[in-house]
Amino acid sequence: MALSLNSMTYFSSPKLPSKTLSLRSPAAYMASTLHTTSKEAENLKKPYCPPREVHIQVTHSMPTQKVEIFKSLEGWAEQNILVYLKPVEKCWQPQDFLPDPESEGFYEQVKELREKSKEIPDDYFVVLVGDMITEEALPTYQTMLNTLDGVRDETGASLTSWARWTRAWTAEENRHGDLLNKYLYLSGRVDMKQIERTIQYLIGSGMDPKTENNPYLGFIYTSFQERATFISHGNTARLAKEHGDMKLAQICGTIASDERRHETAYTKIVEKLFEIDPDGTVMALADMMRKKISMPAHLMYDGQDDTLFEHFSSVAQRLGVYTAKDYADILEFLVGRWDIEKLTGLSGEGHKAQDFVCSLSSRIRRLEERVQGRAKQVSTVPFSWLFSREIKV
Ligand SMILES: [Fe+2]
Ligand SMILES: [Fe+2]
Repeated sequence: MALSLNSMTYFSSPKLPSKTLSLRSPAAYMASTLHTTSKEAENLKKPYCPPREVHIQVTHSMPTQKVEIFKSLEGWAEQNILVYLKPVEKCWQPQDFLPDPESEGFYEQVKELREKSKEIPDDYFVVLVGDMITEEALPTYQTMLNTLDGVRDETGASLTSWARWTRAWTAEENRHGDLLNKYLYLSGRVDMKQIERTIQYLIGSGMDPKTENNPYLGFIYTSFQERATFISHGNTARLAKEHGDMKLAQICGTIASDERRHETAYTKIVEKLFEIDPDGTVMALADMMRKKISMPAHLMYDGQDDTLFEHFSSVAQRLGVYTAKDYADILEFLVGRWDIEKLTGLSGEGHKAQDFVCSLSSRIRRLEERVQGRAKQVSTVPFSWLFSREIKV
């Protein structure tokens, strides 16, 4: 998971669905709105539809003959990618970091966790909650991987290396949202029902990574995202430590190290694609960067705030958990990791793509400096996740 940036448009905000007529009876509607806000009441009038819809979507952009590349890489993936998975017995589990409900000291451990969490400011919790919600929308990410031509899990239990990777990756990732969710529940600092609603809305909306069923685009996207999550969880770990909560720092740091391992695997797949098809891969990278890497939770909604994701991103940017500079840094890192500047034998289009991606991070930095140079309006917004307390964005 990661965030987007409020100061630079790295994602588009799809429009809310147009107003629809209520399918509920007036009596039922009145009864159910007794304890709701006007925004929630308005939502209750709508028949079910995703709160965020993406209307322009490109599908199957990879030429069909290229599917063969991925089929031919089955053995390679077995030897070179599956090795980045950890055997279950050697994996950490959320319970390793949480009070043990069977132990005599359970209540004492919970008390200690809650005491520590009191030292942490609200804006940190906004970011941690946003990170947790992003992790909890994991069904969407597994779906996204299974949209990719040539590597999707055709049966749900397919024995191809690609399918085994996707399932095991999902299983590893599943612990992230689980651990953060349980920690936040025990902390008593946040409105769990609002958070749970946001998760339900988000999974219902899906995501639009603009990867077009194309595994070139898909693996570039996941390379970028895994690094982005490594950075943001690493920063929430650092901040937790600064606030004196070593346990929370350990939780975030442990998740960050998983993200790093996943990043290594995905970047290795893309490295292989550069070896086999440098022209096609550099053009895919340029395409992905022109479209901008949208963040996994960009369709986030809590039933109240129509610009929740922007507000969450803004707090993350202000706290330095994930910033415009990080976006540029990730791109620069990937350009170096895949040795893009040294690619040879490219077509005219390939050369253009190479030039574009090699100069992009410095252009993003310049743009960001200009944005930072402008006087920023300070405002606060209520976050339902924190019982509608006002948070500076
Ligand atoms: Fe994760
Ligand atoms: Fe991840």
